[in-house]
Amino acid sequence: MTAYDPEGIVRECVSCRRCYPSSVQFCRDCMIELVSIEMIPYLIDSRYQLQRVIAHGSTGVAFIAVEMNGKTGNDRPERVIKVVRASAIADPRANDRFHREAEIAIAFRHPNVAPILGSGTLPDASAFLVSEYIRGATLRHEMRRQKRLPINEAIRVIGGICDGLDTAHKAGLVHRDLKPESVILAHSPLDGEATIPTIVGFSFTRIAAGKPFVPGTTAKLQGQGQLPLRPDYISPEQFRGEEADLRSDIFSLGIIAYEMLTSTLPFSGKRVGDYGLSLLTQRPDSIRRANSAVNPLIEAEIMRALEKDPANRQQRARELKRNLIAAAQIG
Ligand SMILES: Nc1ncnc2c1ncn2[C@@H]1O[C@H](COP(=O)(O)OP(=O)(O)OP(=O)(O)O)[C@@H](O)[C@H]1O
Ligand SMILES: [Mg+2]
Repeated sequence: MTAYDPEGIVRECVSCRRCYPSSVQFCRDCMIELVSIEMIPYLIDSRYQLQRVIAHGSTGVAFIAVEMNGKTGNDRPERVIKVVRASAIADPRANDRFHREAEIAIAFRHPNVAPILGSGTLPDASAFLVSEYIRGATLRHEMRRQKRLPINEAIRVIGGICDGLDTAHKAGLVHRDLKPESVILAHSPLDGEATIPTIVGFSFTRIAAGKPFVPGTTAKLQGQGQLPLRPDYISPEQFRGEEADLRSDIFSLGIIAYEMLTSTLPFSGKRVGDYGLSLLTQRPDSIRRANSAVNPLIEAEIMRALEKDPANRQQRARELKRNLIAAAQIG
C-alpha cells in the first residue's frame, strides 16, 4: 500500500491531457481549469510521477509517467501506468487473478510484448501496473493510414503478434483484450525502417461473468451520434460471458487480420444485441471479395481463426503464424 503523498490526487487538463499535482488549478498551457481523476495520486509508489493521460478505458486510466528514482531530467525513464479501478477487481477472484497474472507478467520477457515492470495497490484499493513505454504508432493508426495493409506486411505484423502471444500463452497468460490499439509498431533500434509489433494492454481483470457481455465505456460514439458499439474484438465465448482461454486471443487476432486485409470488420450490428447475433451466428463475408490479392489459403486460415467453436480454430498462436507464412508462399 502506498500512503497518499503530499502532492495529492492527480489533476488532468481535459484539453491537452497533461497531469498536475492537486495544488495546481489551471493548465499552464491551455489555461483551463483542471479536474481531479478519481482517487489517483499524482506520485504513485513514491516514484512514478504522472505526466499525461493516454486513455480513459473501461477498467481504469492509462498514464505516461516518469520514474523519478533519484535520477534527473532526461535520465528519468518513461513508463506507462495503468490504474485499474477498485470496482474492476472487487470480486475476490478478479483480485486474485490480477495479482497472480501480474506476477507472471513481471517475470516474463519477449521482444514482441511490452515489459511489465511492477504492480501494486493504492490506498483506495485500486491497483496499478507499470510497463515500459513503447514508442511508435498503434496498429490502429497504421490501419487508418493505409486502409488495407499489403499482404506481406499484414502477415509480418500478425506473425510478430503470434510470437509474443504464443510465449505469453505458454507462461499461462491470456491477453483478453487484443485490438489494433493494443499493438504498437515500435521503432527498431537496429533498423530505422522496420517496426517491431509490440503487444500492450494485457487484461488481468476480465473474468467470466457468467452473463452476456455488457459494453463498458469502451463502447464509443461512432458515426452520426448513434450509440453504438465498438465491439472490442471479443470472441463468441467472451460475449456469452464464458471463460476465455488462449483460443479467444486467436479469435481476436483473426478479427484484426480480417480488418487489416479488407478494412472492414467481419461482424457488425448497430446495437449490442445485433452485433452479438452476428458474432455468434454469422459467417463473415469472403475476404477475397473485398481484396482479390488475398489467396484462398490465407483466407481459409483467417476464417479458421474466426470459427465460433474454439476447438475448430488454430489451437496455438504459432500454428496460425506458421500456416499463414506457408499459405503466402504457396498461393
Ligand atoms: N506500454 C505501453 N506503451 C505505449 N502505449 C501503451 C502502453 N500500454 C498501453 N498503451 C496505449 O494506451 C492505450 C490504453 O491502454 P489500456 O490498456 O488502458 O487500454 P484499454 O483497453 O482502452 O482500457 P480498458 O482495458 O480499461 O478498457 C492503449 O490503447 C495503447 O495504445
Ligand atoms: Mg484493455
